[in-house]
Amino acid sequence: FHLPQSSVWVVLLQYVTRCQAVQAENVTVLEGGTAQISCRLQNYDGSIVVIQNPRRQTLFFNGTRALKDDRFQMVLFTPRLVRITLTNVSVSDEGGYFCQLYTDDTHHQVATLSVSVPPDTPTVEVKQEAVEGGEVELTCLSPRSKPPATLRWIRDRREIPGVVSQQENGKTVSVSSTIRLPVERKDNGAAVSCEASHPALGGQKRVRHYRLDVHFAPTVRIIPPPGILREGDSLSLTCSITGNPLPRDVQWTRINDTLPERAEISGTTLQVSRLSQSHNGTYLCQAQNNYGRAADHYTLLVYGSLVAQLPLRLIETHSAVPYAVIGGVLALLVFTIICVLIITIWCSVRQKGSYLTHEASGLDEHGEVQEAFLNGNDASQGKKEYLL
Ligand SMILES: *[C@@H]1O[C@H](CO)[C@@H](O)[C@H](O)[C@H]1NC(C)=O
Ligand SMILES: *[C@@H]1O[C@H](CO)[C@@H](O)[C@H](O)[C@H]1NC(C)=O
Ligand SMILES: *[C@@H]1O[C@H](CO)[C@@H](O)[C@H](O)[C@H]1NC(C)=O
Ligand SMILES: *[C@@H]1O[C@H](CO)[C@@H](O)[C@H](O)[C@H]1NC(C)=O
Ligand SMILES: *[C@@H]1O[C@H](CO)[C@@H](O)[C@H](O)[C@H]1NC(C)=O
Repeated sequence: FHLPQSSVWVVLLQYVTRCQAVQAENVTVLEGGTAQISCRLQNYDGSIVVIQNPRRQTLFFNGTRALKDDRFQMVLFTPRLVRITLTNVSVSDEGGYFCQLYTDDTHHQVATLSVSVPPDTPTVEVKQEAVEGGEVELTCLSPRSKPPATLRWIRDRREIPGVVSQQENGKTVSVSSTIRLPVERKDNGAAVSCEASHPALGGQKRVRHYRLDVHFAPTVRIIPPPGILREGDSLSLTCSITGNPLPRDVQWTRINDTLPERAEISGTTLQVSRLSQSHNGTYLCQAQNNYGRAADHYTLLVYGSLVAQLPLRLIETHSAVPYAVIGGVLALLVFTIICVLIITIWCSVRQKGSYLTHEASGLDEHGEVQEAFLNGNDASQGKKEYLL
């Protein structure tokens, strides 16, 4: 932004011998900027021109420096225009500057130099710490501006009306705006902002962002391990905590017992390696801050080792039916073999009988075999006898 850069036509002195037409223009300069103070002359006849500051001290006497202040410089002295500059303008330079022309009558014109002080980015002060369920009191402070800055509190793009107070500090003004907000846990970290607007800033704003700091008691939750735990497994319990301020550390305990020897605590995590059933119990995670304490518990049940149960389980599940079937089939097979054996033996015995008979009769000549066969009765009797 650029304020009319130091072109302050403070005094417009028009001197006309008979008709005096005098014009003055007031201009505003930013603090720290450079002001130009000009006297416009008409029909200048060589009279003495005197320029004075608001305290009526003579700055220049017809072009010659009178006051020892290097910030003032005579930059132009022509019959039509006298111009001085003032650098590093401060609010104490404000006031009427006199341009005087000493003639028969003394004519002068005064114009006012105004210094504008834009606000810095405001600050936010918290009166008391905010606790959930209570209220927070926030004060936005713009300690120095001229004319007074306008302060607005904004949350979620909406204005929160505040109680405004102004205090004059010499030529500048200190402005403050105070709001009170009810706060809950969910408001922790919520953004609010204070905007300072001012004519010298144009449409721009100086904005201070602030995040609500709402204190609340902790919450604690143990994240349990998935599935069941057996002897030899490792246990890892993590305690998830919230709270403002966040509790520094957590306490792990076992109700009515001490923590296992192998228990290791790192941060919010409890770890026990090689679990045994003696680790059964209720484990407690506790955390606290200035606003309260919280606890969560986890009941550990260590089941028998999977390795010890493995054979039993195999028989029960996978092998029970096949073994029965195989057993049945085997029994059937054995039974069949035995039956076959019995029949075979019986048959072979019978065959052997007839063979022996035949052999007995066949010891003779072939011709006699035929005879023996034809005379079966005798032969069979002979066989019977042999068998007996
Ligand atoms: C200049 O400022 C003075 C004092 O504030 C005021 O009285 C006067 O009317 C102003 N002149 C012009 C031309 O605005
Ligand atoms: C004032 O200064 C002007 C410009 O230097 C000069 O012309 C004029 O003579 C001076 N007047 C007197 C009375 O010294
Ligand atoms: C401007 O003036 C102020 C006091 O009014 C002073 O503190 C500062 O040093 C000055 N700056 C310069 C560049 O002279
Ligand atoms: C701890 O011991 C007390 C008293 O012996 C008993 O009342 C309580 O039920 C026990 N708690 C647990 C979790 O075993
Ligand atoms: C531990 O818990 C398991 C599961 O309930 C149970 O079978 C076992 O007997 C318990 N052991 C002891 C020592 O309490």
